[in-house]
Amino acid sequence: MRLLVTGGAGFIGANFVHLTVRDHPDVQVTVLDKLTYAGHKESLAPVGGHIEFVHGDVADFPLVDRLVAQADFVVHFAAESHNDNSLRGPEPFINTNIVGTFTLLEAVRSHGVRLHHISTDEVFGDLELDDPQRFDEVTAYNPSSPYSASKASADLLVRAWVRSFGVHATISNCSNNYGPYQHVEKFIPRQITNILTGVRPKLYGEGLNVRDWIHVDDHNRAVWTILEKGTAGETYLIGADGEESNRNVLALILDLMGCGADDFDHVADRPGHDLRYAINSSKLRSELGWKPEFRDFRDGLAATIDWYRLNEAWWRPFKDATERAYDRGSQR
Ligand code: NAD
Ligand code: DAU
Repeated sequence: MRLLVTGGAGFIGANFVHLTVRDHPDVQVTVLDKLTYAGHKESLAPVGGHIEFVHGDVADFPLVDRLVAQADFVVHFAAESHNDNSLRGPEPFINTNIVGTFTLLEAVRSHGVRLHHISTDEVFGDLELDDPQRFDEVTAYNPSSPYSASKASADLLVRAWVRSFGVHATISNCSNNYGPYQHVEKFIPRQITNILTGVRPKLYGEGLNVRDWIHVDDHNRAVWTILEKGTAGETYLIGADGEESNRNVLALILDLMGCGADDFDHVADRPGHDLRYAINSSKLRSELGWKPEFRDFRDGLAATIDWYRLNEAWWRPFKDATERAYDRGSQR
């Protein structure tokens, strides 16, 4: 099988490529990535000799059309992915997340190639802390930020291309990922690398917001389960029952890194900050037989901290610029 992976130099995409080369050695992988601030060719160094890398934009139709024509399957990770950036400057989110997905849909439609579209639980908006309901495949879309609105738009385009043009596509909406190679702008790696560089961790507001954490390898194994067993036209929600408040996650990081419980700063909250995400992944588990392998969040977090300790050469070059961007906003 020839697999085209968009956004394969980013956090989840690079881990997906590693897993694919390791567990599916018969698959030929081509990565298409624009290498924005969030894409790092170094993240693909461990598998460099086993894949083809193409530097380019998912919204460039002639390029995408040529690559899709040579593929049997496309897995679409490429996106602008950070909520805080979408509040500072939404335009690239429209171009990459919406126009890029449209471009890919036109190419897979023209060549009859299967597509798996990677999306997020943020398309559903947020839940109250005490709401017994969790998101599932029939939850209505209600996105809050420019990022989540652009991902919701992309999902709706995929659904329309399935229904109107018979495109063979699946969609997955996953909760918050953690693990190696995540950009230091994101919550968990930002706090780990702050501590490693002598900067105090930053908690937005009171830290009561809840995220539903999943290890990136469990997400990517779920994607492979969908590629192998999923039904075209279907949506699958991916989650590992990992709800934690930001305050609890930070407390765990501080404890695992030998810091005091109060060694952090409260900073200005994110405008429009979603309160809680929670995924019901019963469909994926009962219909396709997937289950997460990382069962202990503390252990997964400890392994992630070790990875950042051992791989300073990977994150150090973009740490200062990331903190400067936060300084220009309000999340100091
Ligand atoms: P990331 O920001 O780490 O990586 C995004 C990658 O896409 C980068 O390599 C970047 O260079 C590339 N890219 C950006 N614009 C591009 C363009 N126009 N053309 C080609 N490549 C481009 O993101 P991530 O956290 O790995 O997220 C990957 C996907 O998973 C996204 O679609 C995101 O919405 C989704 N997702 C993320 C999470 C999470 O917790 N991080 C959870 C659920 C879903
Ligand atoms: O739910 C899936 C989504 O998870 C993905 O679609 C997004 O691509 C991904 O970035 C992530 O979005 P969040 O906005 O939830 O992730 P982030 O790491 O930015 O923030 C996690 C929580 O931590 C959120 O409630 C905001 C808070 N936070 C974040 C940062 C960067 C802090 O308290 N301090 C911080 O410094």
